Amino acid sequence: MCPCPYMHPAPPQQWHDAQLDFAESMSYGDYLGLDKVLDAQAPRSQQHNEMLFIIQHQASELWMKLLLHELRHARQLIDHGQLGGSHRVLARVLRIMEQMVSSWSILATLSPMEFISFRSDLGQASGFQSYQYREIEFMFGNKNRAMLLPHQHTPQIARNLERCLHSPSLYDVIIQQMARQGLPIAALRLDADPSEPTRSDASVEAAWVQVYQQPERYWDLYQLGEKLMDIEDAFRQWRFRHVTVVERVIGFKKGTGGTEGVEYLRKMLGTVLFPELWSLRSSL
Ligand code: HEM
Repeated sequence: MCPCPYMHPAPPQQWHDAQLDFAESMSYGDYLGLDKVLDAQAPRSQQHNEMLFIIQHQASELWMKLLLHELRHARQLIDHGQLGGSHRVLARVLRIMEQMVSSWSILATLSPMEFISFRSDLGQASGFQSYQYREIEFMFGNKNRAMLLPHQHTPQIARNLERCLHSPSLYDVIIQQMARQGLPIAALRLDADPSEPTRSDASVEAAWVQVYQQPERYWDLYQLGEKLMDIEDAFRQWRFRHVTVVERVIGFKKGTGGTEGVEYLRKMLGTVLFPELWSLRSSL
């Protein structure tokens, strides 16, 4: 019974036995922690459009959280030799990335003047300091120790990124599996320092050529190779949509994070995550 003094209307018949009293049990909002999530938008200005900017970033960070959750799982499965099991997980990873790519069209509705009206309120804050994004890049082998620098003031985050920097990337564990399946991978590649960015290796390319020439024999690896292609394709699209939206909104102004802005982001478009998977195409 509700203790408030108001008369409550009777629930419509179609609701059948819908639970309506959550004084003693967990509701939808309780389960999802909605009070915290929906209380986490704190615009710094009085400008209407700042809410879009905040929610687009927060939603992206939530998708990145799930992406990392799935990527860690996929890496563990592959490390344990369960390649087939990892395919479904990576299929989900791809869908999440596609979702992140398509969401740029919402932010593209922000006009330059709308952004200017609250941009100064961001201070030096920028996606450049997204630690989840850095972890994703590290997971894909794009290791860069300098990217830890903006996180020295938050020791727990810096420690976590340091750990990720030294952990094998998703691609590293796939290459180890290739060696376990008898494909000749150079010892230098297998023993490479995981904190260094992925460098193209001739033995890895030769191994992928074998996989692609005999997909029936190496079916699980072949499927993994194509999944990685899908993922890098989606990542390139994300970077491209980002830089395009940025140019549309701020032109060639410097970023709030302090880089040269669009020019910096254009350089990042040239990043190659899984080099041998691209180069093998010319060798087939
Ligand atoms: C109007 C919206 C946006 C503008 C104008 C913008 C601008 C920029 C600029 C100029 C940079 C370069 C670093 C700097 O100097 O600040 C950057 C980096 C970055 N931004 Fe955005 N951004 C926008 C939206 C977003 C959104 C929605 C996300 C999603 C999380 C995001 C994530 C990132 C990331 C991860 C980087 C680092 C990229 C890298 O180092 O390769 N940005 N952004």
